[in-house]
Amino acid sequence: MAKQVDVVVAGGGGFIGGHLAADLLSQGLTVRCVDIKPQHEWHQLHRDAENVVADLSLVENARDSVRDAGQVYMLAADMGGMGFIENHKAACMMSVLTSTHMLQAAQEAGVERYFYSSSACVYAAGKQVASNVTALKEEDAYPAQPEDGYGWEKLFSERMCRHFEEDYGFTCRVARYHNVYGPAGTWTGGREKAPAAVCRKIAEAVISGEHRIDIWGDGRQTRSFMYIDDCLHGTQMLMNGPSSVPVNLGSSELVTINQLVDIVEDIAGIRCERKYQLDAPQGVRGRNSDNALIRELYGWEPSIPLAEGLEKTYAWVYDQVKRAGS
Ligand code: NAD
Ligand code: GDD
Repeated sequence: MAKQVDVVVAGGGGFIGGHLAADLLSQGLTVRCVDIKPQHEWHQLHRDAENVVADLSLVENARDSVRDAGQVYMLAADMGGMGFIENHKAACMMSVLTSTHMLQAAQEAGVERYFYSSSACVYAAGKQVASNVTALKEEDAYPAQPEDGYGWEKLFSERMCRHFEEDYGFTCRVARYHNVYGPAGTWTGGREKAPAAVCRKIAEAVISGEHRIDIWGDGRQTRSFMYIDDCLHGTQMLMNGPSSVPVNLGSSELVTINQLVDIVEDIAGIRCERKYQLDAPQGVRGRNSDNALIRELYGWEPSIPLAEGLEKTYAWVYDQVKRAGS
């Protein structure tokens, strides 16, 4: 019998989930979005999807959410940027209930394919101590020394996917996302990541005329940032692809946080005085994605230039700041 719902997006009220659901719907698929947040807080609410508010850490809700579903994208997690994960380690680790119950429920329900959104935070801290970091290869997750709290949950949960595949023949796909950004994401409130935070601060500077911004750390720490369109393409490619090993899904365009600020300043057409906050959350010193494995498996890697993605992100964040102030 055909499945009643082609795809479930767990965490469909979130940033990536909202965009993914839009993309799946545009392909003519039937989509069920599930999220713990009330619907007025969802980043995107798609009227042509089935939209369910439920706490997926509870196994009964997890079972209901995957009923009669073909594929499950498991994006639900209690997470955010460094400002959140450094100060909410227990909450981050509690997502292990959501990850575990969703995997269990999907396997029991005979779901055809299951996608788990892991993170670059699984990588060993000792390999990310310099700004001019060597890009992280998938094997660098072991010996295990992940980000405290959030990274441990992700490493445990991606490993559980592996054992469900090995022991039960359940088809699981795992991506290790590297910092994803774009419009219609979290831009304020404490969970925002550096790209949205920098866009917000510069938009506020433009609007107020006070060209001064705070930057966490000394600005010389490095990261790579993946635009949402690359994330959507890579996520679906991995889900429908042949390999069950966890794969980096990230840009390899390494920048310092100062360079990120430079780009947003260019877009906004202003220069700001920078105040460096050395006691703010900073995470690892340097992080980049080694894309050899994704190229080898799929002949593709994220390639949208940071300046291009930030242009769209800044425009969206600027509108939010304007609207919030009016
Ligand atoms: P997000 O916070 O915008 O979305 C996650 C959603 O999960 C939220 O809407 C939240 O309400 C929901 N959720 C949390 N707990 C839940 C529960 N118990 N039941 C139901 N829903 C619940 O985050 P995002 O940026 O869209 O990230 C999606 C996934 O990708 C997450 O698993 C995240 O850890 C992972 N990831 C994201 C990034 C990134 O840079 N955005 C990087 C690495 C990994
Ligand atoms: N959030 C934020 N806000 N970060 C800032 C700011 C600011 O205003 N100013 C400078 N930064 C610096 C942080 O100190 C950090 O060194 C760097 O920018 C990146 O911070 P985030 O974007 O918050 O997080 P991250 O890259 O360390 O980790 C993120 O990506 C992981 C995947 O690569 C997090 O979102 C993790 O949850 C995610 O798994």
